[in-house]
Amino acid sequence: MPVEPGEWERIIAANPDHSRWYIQRFRDLEAAGNDIVGEARLIDAMLPRGSRALDAGCGPGRLGGYLHRVGHTVVGVDVDPALIEAAEQDYPGPTWIAANLADLDLPAHGIDDGFDAIVCAGNVMTFLAPSTRTDVLRAFERHLRVDGRAVVGFGAGRGYAFDDFFADARTAGLETDLRLATWDLRPFTDSSDFLVAVLRRA
Ligand SMILES: C[S@@+](CC[C@H](N)C(=O)[O-])C[C@H]1O[C@@H](n2cnc3c(N)ncnc32)[C@H](O)[C@@H]1O
Repeated sequence: MPVEPGEWERIIAANPDHSRWYIQRFRDLEAAGNDIVGEARLIDAMLPRGSRALDAGCGPGRLGGYLHRVGHTVVGVDVDPALIEAAEQDYPGPTWIAANLADLDLPAHGIDDGFDAIVCAGNVMTFLAPSTRTDVLRAFERHLRVDGRAVVGFGAGRGYAFDDFFADARTAGLETDLRLATWDLRPFTDSSDFLVAVLRRA
């Protein structure tokens, strides 16, 4: 069955220039000397050198590009082919794949090995069609190595309540190991307006 299109697909259908704008935004931020890899530094801290990392909803590749640079084997997946093309140009090295996370099947792309870490940053979860959220979390579970961990970050007020996310993760066979409020390790509380969840296979 075809995957229901999500918010990102709706945005680019309404405004074909959106992807180009988004790509340029990160190019400009990087060129101006901004730190655009904070989330990836947290992932790197979780991994021995030479690990396998999946950048889920990688966009134009800032995080996967960094993880490759510091010595990990990286696969990046995004539903928007324009962003994948930009990732290939700006961050050569990782394997960049245009695909939907909801029916992700990396073995079908010749990638049989699981991942030590999956990073899903930049509110990707809130751009999914709600009907596909649990499928995406199931795909994370399927693509993790036995001891691997998925780290998922997104903000409140974007239509995906944190409690619903924790329930969906459980349904998908993922345990929440750690709840943080920021990528620089502030603790999660009832009033946090952002969640960084570290999940592992149940
Ligand atoms: C705000 S961007 C974040 C990009 C990147 N993670 C970052 O932080 O720089 C949200 C991304 O989610 C991707 N996305 C949304 N739905 C997706 C899906 N079903 N499968 C794969 N990628 C998806 C979009 O194409 C977009 O690149």
